Amino acid sequence: MENKKYIIANWKMNPASIKEGFGLLSGLSKGIKKNNAELVICPPGVFLNTLKNKFKKFNFGAQNIFWEDKGAYTGENSALMIKNLGVEYTIIGHSERREHFGESDEAVNLKIISCLKNKVRPILCVGEKEKNRETEIKEQLDKALRDVKKTQLKNILIAYEPVWAISGNSNGVSATVEDAFRGLLLIRKTLTRKFNRRTANSVSILYGGSVNSGNVSGFINEAEFGGVLVGGRSLDVKEFIKLVGNINK
Ligand code: PGA
Repeated sequence: MENKKYIIANWKMNPASIKEGFGLLSGLSKGIKKNNAELVICPPGVFLNTLKNKFKKFNFGAQNIFWEDKGAYTGENSALMIKNLGVEYTIIGHSERREHFGESDEAVNLKIISCLKNKVRPILCVGEKEKNRETEIKEQLDKALRDVKKTQLKNILIAYEPVWAISGNSNGVSATVEDAFRGLLLIRKTLTRKFNRRTANSVSILYGGSVNSGNVSGFINEAEFGGVLVGGRSLDVKEFIKLVGNINK
């Protein structure tokens, strides 16, 4: 696993205007101190280029892509397009896309392959819908990583996001460090079986689901995640600055 820690800010379909987006990033620019974390802001696609050009100190990611490079696919954006904007990351297979847009494991796999081809780093989200249904995670990984080569795996970030712990579904109740660690071990084991131990250990696995400034350090320092994926709390400037500051505590 890389030494670098990742903090992915998933803004989801927020805020409603680019002006508010400027406000969020101006606040973060002033408050965030340099540390060893790679901070990746994932705003709505319609704001991505403008925010990226204005706030050069941040890394940016998309929240989704379609797997073809271009063509008659109304409403979609491709990995090639975001690559050509200079955007290095995209979230793939978030549980909200799986739930509201019927995104299947097969679609997730095609998107991963397209990202790898276009040299965009996918942040692949996996996670069980209900507690103790871990077979779901294995199946999601097996299908999402079909035809991914051993040498390509380190370019993928995997986010373990138990669906029941995401703030919109859970009233702010996060997974415990133990719950999260169990998920992390299961992911490493699945990757080891599919590839080999060395390759499995080269992958950064992040935790996501109601991460806040109070619990972030447990996930990173006790459960040894390679970073976090933050939804709701990434839209609260003060709280997010505190969260970023707490990752090494
Ligand atoms: P949350 O969202 O931090 O608001 O729980 C995480 C996610 O859905 O990626």
